[in-house]
Amino acid sequence: MYKYSVSILGTGFIGLCSAACFANKDIKVLASTHNEKKASMINDGIAPFYEADLQEMMNDIKAKKPELLQCLLDPIKAILETDISMITQGTPMREDKSINLGYIESTAREIGEALKQKNNYHLVVVRSTVVPGTSRNLVGRIITEVSGKIPGKDFGLCMQPEFLAEGRSIEDTLKPDRIVIGEFDEKSGAMLQEFYEYFYGDHLKNCPILRMNLESAELVKYGNNCLLSTKISYANEFANLAQLVPNVDIVQVMKGVGLDYRISDRFLGAGVGFGGSCFHKDVNAIRAWSKSKGYHSRLLKAVLDINDDQAIRIVDIAEELAGDLKNKRITLLGLAFKPGTDDMRQAASIRVVNELRNRGVKDIVGYDPKANETAELELGNKIAYANSIEQALKGSECTLLITEWDDFKTLTPDDFKEYMKTPNLVDGRRLYNYDRFNSALPFRAIGRINLE
Ligand code: UGA
Repeated sequence: MYKYSVSILGTGFIGLCSAACFANKDIKVLASTHNEKKASMINDGIAPFYEADLQEMMNDIKAKKPELLQCLLDPIKAILETDISMITQGTPMREDKSINLGYIESTAREIGEALKQKNNYHLVVVRSTVVPGTSRNLVGRIITEVSGKIPGKDFGLCMQPEFLAEGRSIEDTLKPDRIVIGEFDEKSGAMLQEFYEYFYGDHLKNCPILRMNLESAELVKYGNNCLLSTKISYANEFANLAQLVPNVDIVQVMKGVGLDYRISDRFLGAGVGFGGSCFHKDVNAIRAWSKSKGYHSRLLKAVLDINDDQAIRIVDIAEELAGDLKNKRITLLGLAFKPGTDDMRQAASIRVVNELRNRGVKDIVGYDPKANETAELELGNKIAYANSIEQALKGSECTLLITEWDDFKTLTPDDFKEYMKTPNLVDGRRLYNYDRFNSALPFRAIGRINLE
């Protein structure tokens, strides 16, 4: 009845956003999870996490064609009733910082179990971020062993890295700038390409499809995230150089650099550093992977070290401005790893709080428009949580701007003066107009030191 039917094994950001986008374009989707609550929410048309535009899309599907998006607790059934299976499980970081492929492995087993019972050709697509060799040597091998089927003949295997960013997952899924297909063989890649030609239609005029082998596609994802992380650490390195000379401004410097058509100014924003579930995890995973093969990446180590040090830098800057912070009340504006989300994973705020606590600061108040609750799960009673900007600033002796939420953009120097005990402000995201704030307040910003 439908041209394509796809099982989506894993219902995180990538899985559920893809599932909704596919279903919205008349592709039959059977998502699967082992989490009962999540499955029933999805079946009720409710997104189990916040992501821009996802709920609206799910409402639409629920109202118009609810049969197109269903979530099962039985992955084998989902696989058996579809032609293509996409693995969208998480690949978290282990304690030793290497990649944890546990979920990928158990999903590959489930696919193997299902394919044992299936006679038609089935295409398996790995869309999780996995270190080179995983799709062939772990996923392909396990499916072959468990099902007794032959890759290339009975089932196809592709690896399609994902480039969507949190907060833009739906937009990025609907309008990618390229599609990378790693293929076990020509037939697998051709089938996935055809699927995307159907799904994207005219959008492909502006979106090349690149086909390559499985391992190259796996490495493309790391190449991407490591370069974006490197750009950020590069900007932060230059922010530290800029701070060596009065009146040099990193924002202008990176704008000048970024206008080179070979570079672009995106992801050259200096600040308290990158966070989120991907950059740390992926830079660490590919480092650990290369180390296990005998190659030590000095560049990637530096990228992570510079990022970690930004938390120390911002606290140093605050001490230069406000003096010893130990017995002072310090405010953090913004806790989430970036605006538009309540995600606290690897957020810069965590490193800043730890640095403040290492220096004996006990009176820390944090405020985030969306992430107060998730922050509390992460930071516990290391800080107090305010319910409003005003409450966060009240009685404070130094404020550190950590996440560039729109709510903070509209604050004026007078707001800080009115609410704070002493209005020391450190801009960790270059949100404020430097000249305006510097002339009105005791003010510092990453990547620029005071005009003399
Ligand atoms: C990132 C990538 O941008 C996606 O392409 C990728 O698919 C995703 O990881 C993933 O691997 O799943 P995400 O972590 O959601 O997406 O967030 P980004 O918007 O990339 O921001 C990451 C961090 O970098 C944030 O903490 C942000 O504040 C910081 N950042 C970003 C900077 O410090 N400076 C910048 O100029 C840009």
